[in-house]
Amino acid sequence: MRATTVSPANIAFIKYWGRRNHELFIPLSTTNSMNLSSCTATTTVEFSEEFGDSDTISISGQDGVSKTMELPFESVAGKDKKVKGRNSEQPPVVLDEKSAELFRTLERIRLLYSQENGGQLPAARVSSTLSFPMSAGIASSAAGISAFTAAGLVAAGLERYFEDKQELSRQVRKTGSASAARSVLGGFTELLVAGNKVDPGDIEAQDQSSYAAQIADENHWDLTDITVVTESSSKKVSSSKGHELAETSSLLNARIAYLEGKPEKARQAILERDFMTLAELAEADWINMFAVMMTSKPAVFYFNPGSIALYHKVQELRASGLEVFCTFDAGPNPHLICANSSLAQVRQALKDSDVAGFVSFTLESKPVAGTQLIEKI
Ligand code: PMV
Repeated sequence: MRATTVSPANIAFIKYWGRRNHELFIPLSTTNSMNLSSCTATTTVEFSEEFGDSDTISISGQDGVSKTMELPFESVAGKDKKVKGRNSEQPPVVLDEKSAELFRTLERIRLLYSQENGGQLPAARVSSTLSFPMSAGIASSAAGISAFTAAGLVAAGLERYFEDKQELSRQVRKTGSASAARSVLGGFTELLVAGNKVDPGDIEAQDQSSYAAQIADENHWDLTDITVVTESSSKKVSSSKGHELAETSSLLNARIAYLEGKPEKARQAILERDFMTLAELAEADWINMFAVMMTSKPAVFYFNPGSIALYHKVQELRASGLEVFCTFDAGPNPHLICANSSLAQVRQALKDSDVAGFVSFTLESKPVAGTQLIEKI
C-alpha cells in the first residue's frame, strides 16, 4: 500500500496568529492565501509488514540537506514530545512540534483504518522531497504537511478522506498546521473558522466547523510571489509556540476586533482582481499580526535589517506606481506579490537598488493547483 502526492506551500494575505483550539489546531480567525508553484513537496507514504515495528520519516531539500526520523509506532501519544528510541539503551528522541505531529498523524491514520476495516496497519515509511532548499528559512511546512497527510490517507486505502477536499483539509489541519490546510485546493483559498457560533465544548462540531474552501482557481489571477530570502537560518520561535504565546499579548483582543470583516474584504479583492485593495489589506494585516508577536511575553521579533529595508523599498516602488506589495510569514523573508505589469521593474530593483545587499536569493512562484495524487500502488 503506497501513495505519492505533490502539494504546494502558500502565502497568506489575511493571516492568523493564535488558535481557538490548540488540540484541533483551529485558528482564531478565517485566513486566506495563494498557493506557491516553486515551493512544493512530493511525498510517498508506504505501509508494509516488511518495515518491522518502526515508522521512518525522511525529508530532503533541493540543497541536498536531509533529515531522517525513526520511531517505534504507537509511541507518540499525548503532548509529551519525548519518545523512547527503538530499544531501552537508546536515549529518548526529542522531536520538534511539527515532526511529532507527523508521527501522531500516522497513529491517527491507523486508528481511522482500524475503525473502518477492523484490522491493523503495519509500519510506515515516508519520504518527502522539497522543490526548494530545506535550510533556507522559507516557511514551507504547509507543502510537506499537506502532501504527507494526503499520501498517508491514500496509502492506507482511506481514499474517501482524500476525495472529499473539505475532509482532507480537516485532516491536514489536525496534522498540526491550519495554514497547510489551505494548500489542499488550487489557486486562491481560505480556511474558514466559524468562531463563536460553535460550542467550544463540542469537539466534533468544532472540528467540522473549520475547513478549506476555494476562492478562485490557479488560472484566475496571474500574480507572482517573489520570496526574498534575506536569512537562511531556521526561525527562533516556531509558529506552534507562537500560537500559544499570542494569548499573552495585550493587543490580541484588538487584533480580533480589527479582523472583523477583513477576510471577506480580501476575498472580494481577489475575486475582483483588485490589486490595490488587496495590497492595503494584506500589508495592514501582517503589520497588525507582528504587533501581537512583538507584544507577547516573551516578545517575538522575526525581523532583520533586510526585512525592514525591503518593506521600505516596496513602499517606495508602490508610491512610484508599481503594483507590488509585501507580506511576511513568521520569519524575516518578505514575499513580494507583483502584478505582471510591474514584475520586471521589481526584479530589477532587487538586483540594482540599495536593498540588493540584503538579498541572499529569490524564488518566484505563480498560483498553482492544490494537493494532487501522483501514484497509488
Ligand atoms: O499553521 P502554522 O502553524 O504553520 O502557522 C501559520 C502562521 C502564519 O504563517 C504566520 C500565518 C498564516 O496564516 O499562514
